[in-house]
Amino acid sequence: MKYAIAVLKGDGIGPEIVAEAQKCLDEVAKRFGHEFAYREALVGGAAIDACGTPLPQETIDTCLACDSVILGAVGGPKWDGLPAEMRPEKGLLGIRKELGLFVNLRPAKLHAPLADACPLKPERIADGLDLVVCRELTGDVYFGAKHRDEDGTGHDDMNYSIAEVERIAHRAFRMARQRQGHVTSVDKANVLETSRVWRETVQRVALEYPDVAVDYLYVDNAAMQLVLNPGQFDVILTGNLFGDILSDEASCITGSIGMLPSASLGETNLGMYEPIHGSAPDIAGKNKANPIATVLSTAMMLRYSFGLAAEADALERAVERVLEKGCRTGDIAKADERVLGCSDMGDAIAAEI
Ligand code: NAI
Ligand code: MG
Repeated sequence: MKYAIAVLKGDGIGPEIVAEAQKCLDEVAKRFGHEFAYREALVGGAAIDACGTPLPQETIDTCLACDSVILGAVGGPKWDGLPAEMRPEKGLLGIRKELGLFVNLRPAKLHAPLADACPLKPERIADGLDLVVCRELTGDVYFGAKHRDEDGTGHDDMNYSIAEVERIAHRAFRMARQRQGHVTSVDKANVLETSRVWRETVQRVALEYPDVAVDYLYVDNAAMQLVLNPGQFDVILTGNLFGDILSDEASCITGSIGMLPSASLGETNLGMYEPIHGSAPDIAGKNKANPIATVLSTAMMLRYSFGLAAEADALERAVERVLEKGCRTGDIAKADERVLGCSDMGDAIAAEI
């Protein structure tokens, strides 16, 4: 099969890590007889420099014309002084909106060879750790009306419609079916009206998935449970604000930020796939970045946008094998371990596919 992929390398380490992900994808294409055609477009600081805006219309058009989007990372000190509307991150929020992406998936998995990078005590992860945070991306207090009174009081309106909750809930339950069959819905229904809408809606949607186990946690308890007993979770379904916080918490308990992928999906198969980390200006251009988060993001692309499960498995297994063999970039290496560069790590993964 032939697939068109929009490639938005972005800033800092973005171009380096995306190049390694493409190297691995090309190997997958060769092994499985597919063709991946890449179409590059600008976003973030790179787009500001070239076109004066973090999200040129041409980039949106390119993404919409493709089957999926790979994104590196955006931002860096060069653009920090710009007004909010002109900042590189505006490009990210804008593209999610333009592509209608309303769910953000962040798997957090502990890779056995990196178990001692986990900041939790070994007994806390005795059950392993393999969960995915399913975060709503287009609603909640982030997109509600904002204003400041004359006396300086700030207001952010928090809102969730039933339709917004329904569509993400269906996504989470369907995903749970492909995993361990367990959804934990997280809200603050004891206090917030939006959360009561959230919980009632999830309870109703759950009736359509009698084969999926479901439980409900308040977000404060969920935050605690994530560090006390993360093995209890499979799919964590939550809103934009709680999801932002819990997904960072979930990812840091697995070790390095350089390992963690993400997917943003909408109603169609078009999705955007990116590592959760930023542009790492401190190591940009030095061939030091860990490309694994980006490589694993493209595995999610194969699975969710293209329906290529065997290919995704092959890529994920290749990553497991290089870790078992002891391949390490600087962020995941112990003091006495040999450190590979970004491109060597890409070579090693490609060779295992
Ligand atoms: P960051 O994630 O870029 O870096 C944090 C630390 O992790 C740094 O020490 C960095 O060297 C390290 N790191 C990150 N990715 C790595 C990788 N693949 N391999 C090895 N080490 C890695 O976060 P920071 O420093 O807060 O932000 C830097 C810039 O990135 C800022 O301009 C920020 O706005 C932007 N940013 C962009 C995001 C995106 O494009 N999705 C997300 C987060 C931040
Ligand atoms: Mg965040």
